[in-house]
Amino acid sequence: MAAYEIEQHSYDVVVVGAGGAGLRATLGMAEQGLKTACVTKVFPTRSHTVAAQGGIAASLSNMGPDHWQWHMYDTVKGSDWLGDTDAMEYLAREAPKAVYELEHYGVPFSRTEDGRIYQRPFGGHTTEFGEGPPVQRTCAAADRTGHAMLHTLYGQSLKQQAQFYIEYFAIDLLMTDDGQCQGVLAWKLDDGTLHQFNAKMVVLATGGYGRAYFSATSAHTCTGDGNGMVARAGLPLQDMEFVQFHPTGIYGAGCLITEGARGEGGYLTNSEGERFMERYAPTYKDLASRDVVSRCMTMEIREGRGVGPNKDHIHLHLNHLPKEALHLRLPGISESAKIFAGVDVTKEPIPVLPTVHYNMGGIPTNYWGEVLNADAENPTRTAPGLMAVGEAACASVHGANRLGSNSLIDLVVFGRAAAIRAGKIVDADAPIPVAPQAAVDAAVARFDKTRHAGGTVPTAELRLEMQKTMQEDAAVFRTEKTLAEGCKKMADVAAKLDDIQVTDRSLIWNTDLMETLELQNLMPNALTTIVSAEARKESRGAHAHEDFPDRDDKNWRKHTLAFVTGNRVQLDYRPVVTDPLTAPDAGGIDPRKIAPKARVY
Ligand code: FUM
Repeated sequence: MAAYEIEQHSYDVVVVGAGGAGLRATLGMAEQGLKTACVTKVFPTRSHTVAAQGGIAASLSNMGPDHWQWHMYDTVKGSDWLGDTDAMEYLAREAPKAVYELEHYGVPFSRTEDGRIYQRPFGGHTTEFGEGPPVQRTCAAADRTGHAMLHTLYGQSLKQQAQFYIEYFAIDLLMTDDGQCQGVLAWKLDDGTLHQFNAKMVVLATGGYGRAYFSATSAHTCTGDGNGMVARAGLPLQDMEFVQFHPTGIYGAGCLITEGARGEGGYLTNSEGERFMERYAPTYKDLASRDVVSRCMTMEIREGRGVGPNKDHIHLHLNHLPKEALHLRLPGISESAKIFAGVDVTKEPIPVLPTVHYNMGGIPTNYWGEVLNADAENPTRTAPGLMAVGEAACASVHGANRLGSNSLIDLVVFGRAAAIRAGKIVDADAPIPVAPQAAVDAAVARFDKTRHAGGTVPTAELRLEMQKTMQEDAAVFRTEKTLAEGCKKMADVAAKLDDIQVTDRSLIWNTDLMETLELQNLMPNALTTIVSAEARKESRGAHAHEDFPDRDDKNWRKHTLAFVTGNRVQLDYRPVVTDPLTAPDAGGIDPRKIAPKARVY
């Protein structure tokens, strides 16, 4: 093995990832007086949160009546009763506070005539516990909300003296033998040096793994790096079978057209010009929850009512909306439609198709962001020194399906919660431990082995094989047959990592090596997704199983835990948290309101 010099760094807290959750956690940790570093593989304002368009949900009541309990109800129903009730209450209750904090930090929200934060309707967000009309709950900065948040949070983090290590690729967690995290090893991409970050607390905010699929709205950087590190550390990944398809990815290109487009009055049609959502979801129509809309679009296409020469996509109409409204509220997607579909949205419909968008599953945590080293017998046991927030985490606040605009609020509510918790459990005066040498040696050895991998399968080829398998066999609709075949194919695909070929042995801007390390992270994500899906014999949220079309609460209202060894996955389960945080007589929701029932829109 080559000899590597390793530069040492010591912090109270090291956050890995600088998207919305990573930055909110970094800012919060620094505000708590903790010596904080943020290690990120891309420049913070280029993190994938920059692509979040439509907005951030909070019951501010700026556009009409709203209540955190209605938001909580919608989130519970949206999750198809798989979300943890404590986390969902925490999200809905803390959301207004978290958004006002963003406003005060300087996020340039769009405004109403009287100067309040503008809010738009989004799918699945309703009034009166699902009995009333859609609510305008999604706070927006035009259709560039994530972009606005990233710039503000990065600036505020710098103001709090957080240290940023930019374009550093995290290789592995540094764990003690008894399962405590004491740091992370990273590779500095622009000069090839290795860096050991010793820490009392590591926070993973590494985002989703959309790039395990062939067509995704996610950036190419969304490779589930934190999930990969956690799986290699022997910890479980939770509810990985739940992968969200966004109804309106641009056909062919996969770029996102925000749900805010339907919130502002856009609608979908089939080849007969029919507004088909009226048939499937008579009350909320195009603003039904996005798993529902994606399934309905897929059914229209399957039944021969898709548009285009191959009848393989759907039309999204905005051309009936006033030009000024499009310019004011949806400038970004008007531009995307022009660039990626050649469409002038003021005149023609946009060709769209359900596209992989979000991972409900991830690293299990409690609602303070503490990572769970859980199994059936120890469902709430934590992994000391390790937190996870944002899309990498599974709090589980979205359960089997996330509502649109509940992602940005998840990032800031739980980024903030992690900081509050760390302020209590991390002793700023205690010495910072030096991570165990055995863990450092193991991480360096894996890095070096990958760098010198002399196999026969090029990384790009294997990645494509994985992406095509996932796209075909773990899609919007799944069957026993496709899932069983997919599991077998994915085990074979993952086994080929042992025969991977890296041709560039250098250390500086070695994209060949970086993409291989990313593929090593993507693989456990893909494997656990398909194996967890194969095992779940019901349909719930984004997991639409054609051989088991109904939700089965008696047997399956439980979280999947997936442990990875090589190309094998072992499953276990833990119960869903069904108790709210606050009793009804103390202002909490009446549990009868959120009891499981049929999920219709
Ligand atoms: O449609 C959108 O703007 C996406 C929002 C989200 O995923 O929350």
